Amino acid sequence: MAIPSNINPEKVPNHVAIIMDGNGRWAKSQGQDRIYGHLSGVRSVRESLEAARELGVKYLTLYAFSTENWNRPKEEVAALMDLLVKTIVGEIDELDANGVRLEAIGDLEHLPESCKKELQGGIERTKNNQEITLILALSYSSRWEIIEAIKGMINSGVKAEEVNEELIHNYLSTHDFPDPELMIRTSGEQRISNFLLWQLAYSELYFTDTFWPEFRKNDFFEAIAEFQSRERRFGKTSEQIILKDK
Ligand code: FPP
Repeated sequence: MAIPSNINPEKVPNHVAIIMDGNGRWAKSQGQDRIYGHLSGVRSVRESLEAARELGVKYLTLYAFSTENWNRPKEEVAALMDLLVKTIVGEIDELDANGVRLEAIGDLEHLPESCKKELQGGIERTKNNQEITLILALSYSSRWEIIEAIKGMINSGVKAEEVNEELIHNYLSTHDFPDPELMIRTSGEQRISNFLLWQLAYSELYFTDTFWPEFRKNDFFEAIAEFQSRERRFGKTSEQIILKDK
């Protein structure tokens, strides 16, 4: 699929984060169970990654499993973990061949052994790839991450006067990645849901009614075009931004 003409290739965001939402509701609308929705969501992951890579997006973060998701029925949790393992096993050759570097953030110690093993294997195998970094947020919540960062700072003996934005960034699990310029959430919900609370401080937020299993490359392109139509002022005035761009 060609890149649509309404996208300026010079102004593509470096980092896009996605809350993939609506698998369960979509499955229900199809008369299927929730797990069918998650299975169908894998195609949307593939299409979004492809679209991001074609555009030159350098980081794509996907909220695949939140800390709160551990409270779902145990069959659903098991199916999601199984899907994660199978997807990594099934896709890793292609990811590697396409220059994708796999990364993960979250409380990974809590994942089942098989999942940890495939994930670590995939991360190790693709660590030198440079086309795009795919970051899976797994057993992740932003408040958990912030608590861990504070504990890390205390354990390292950081002094109050040393605390600044850069130091906090260095203690977050996203310390190797830039902040996302754009956050997409599917399924019509307009919330952040404990996702990258620190990192999304200046991000543009894009909400679409499309359920995740129906999210296609074209929907990703549409979000980028909408992002490009917005003016990011970072607290400055329009005039200051226009002058800087000249
Ligand atoms: C939210 O929909 C989706 C999830 C909790 C899981 C996302 C997982 C996938 C798309 C599977 C594949 C992902 C990877 C990275 C292999 P929901 O269940 O909350 O939907 P609902 O709000 O309609 O109930």
